[in-house]
Amino acid sequence: MYVCICNGVTDREIRDAAAAGCDSLAELTMRTGCGANCGSCLDHAERILDEMRAPAMPLPVLQAA
Ligand code: FES
Repeated sequence: MYVCICNGVTDREIRDAAAAGCDSLAELTMRTGCGANCGSCLDHAERILDEMRAPAMPLPVLQAA
């Protein structure tokens, strides 16, 4: 899905950038161009970066095993 219409940046590109170590909106903009024009995509882009930073939830079933 396109997140940044101005620069044609998709959620997958943002996730790939985060997986490659991108940890801030400023760095994301430098790497992908996301947010470099109107900026209306920045909130959505930040939510995706936050999702990628969130630790994986442990599965309770596995902890009990
Ligand atoms: S939609 Fe991303 S800069 Fe405009």
